Amino acid sequence: MRYYWDYLGLDDLLGAQRLASIEDGGAPAHDEMLFIVTHQAFELWFKQILWELDAVVDTLAAAPVDEREMGQVLHRLERIKEIQPLLVQQFAVLETMTPLDFLDFRDLLIPASGFQSLQFRLVENRLGLDPAKRMKIQGSHYTSRLSREHAERVAASESEPTLLGALDAWLARTPFLRFGDFDFWSAYRDAVTAMIERDRALIASNASLDEVSRQQQLDAFETTVETFATLFDRDRWEELRAQGKRRLSHEAFLAALLISLYRDEPAFHTPHRLLRTLVDLDIGFNAFRNAHAQLVHRTIGGRIGTGGTSGHEYLEAAARRHRVFTDLFDLATYSVPRDELPALPGDVREQLRFRFQAATGNG
Ligand code: HEM
Repeated sequence: MRYYWDYLGLDDLLGAQRLASIEDGGAPAHDEMLFIVTHQAFELWFKQILWELDAVVDTLAAAPVDEREMGQVLHRLERIKEIQPLLVQQFAVLETMTPLDFLDFRDLLIPASGFQSLQFRLVENRLGLDPAKRMKIQGSHYTSRLSREHAERVAASESEPTLLGALDAWLARTPFLRFGDFDFWSAYRDAVTAMIERDRALIASNASLDEVSRQQQLDAFETTVETFATLFDRDRWEELRAQGKRRLSHEAFLAALLISLYRDEPAFHTPHRLLRTLVDLDIGFNAFRNAHAQLVHRTIGGRIGTGGTSGHEYLEAAARRHRVFTDLFDLATYSVPRDELPALPGDVREQLRFRFQAATGNG
């Protein structure tokens, strides 16, 4: 017969708040309990997030993915999305600890830091954070502050399957990129070109702009036009990808674009929700990073962190750089109004419909 306390391992869990201020024989620092409990609560949620991510990557990495499992994938990612605001709220609880309260025990922590959170690194790498985006800390690799065992685990995770990689493979396999005789991409290109011309004319004739602002807007506009050009040129796309400016393969990006343009088609409902949820997750982790950076700024000001980084400045830079699904954000750049989208051929639309299969009986 199970007993609540034992089932939840509460001896271990509730015995794991060992205050350094007490263990080191000094005056107990009251807020150190909050500091430890909050970190532990984060680590528990990181554990749950990893649990969900591992399952999602496993499912999505199968070739082909059983369509019936896509609901489960989405459900699990949505669960992570629900956890993220809790993480942000937990920082608010920790912010009730003032800078002076923190100084009561801060020096006892050195060199320990959230920078050494193994699970957070595993989450980042499982999502597919580009290792090239990592910043050096005083000239050292981001794993240099970890124990050897943890550093090896994190290094190994860089070459394990990622959510971004599994998404890429899944998108690239989509059968709807092939339209038989219908040249979808040149029809789409015509629609985009018409839209570009219209937008350019709007800037040129905007009476509220002075000449300098007009020129600035036209220059910025030409940059957008350039990005459209890479969309139709696989080699240029892959060049950008090699430079880390694109993460998805050309084929996967086109599939994602198709899904977002024709998301009204029934077969694209779930894929479209998946793409949106991944963007939400990136936003959610970004909110976590920004909330943490602000907490750090208000708690330690401009000091360096116990882990040896520049502190809040490092954290703000990491928030800007450490995003994973940036290509999915960029899909919006390539949207054209619904009524200007090329109409899909009847047989393609037919394939994208929901169909009810009549029950087949043999009686
Ligand atoms: C008073 C509270 C906190 C302070 C002053 C603080 C400070 C810092 C600083 C300065 C860094 C940069 C590395 C360094 O130089 O140490 C850092 C990194 C980090 N902290 Fe905190 N932190 C606090 C609370 C938390 C909490 C509650 C968590 C939740 C687990 C957390 C998780 C992290 C993570 C994951 C990193 C690595 C971020 C990255 O490299 O992108 N921190 N923290």
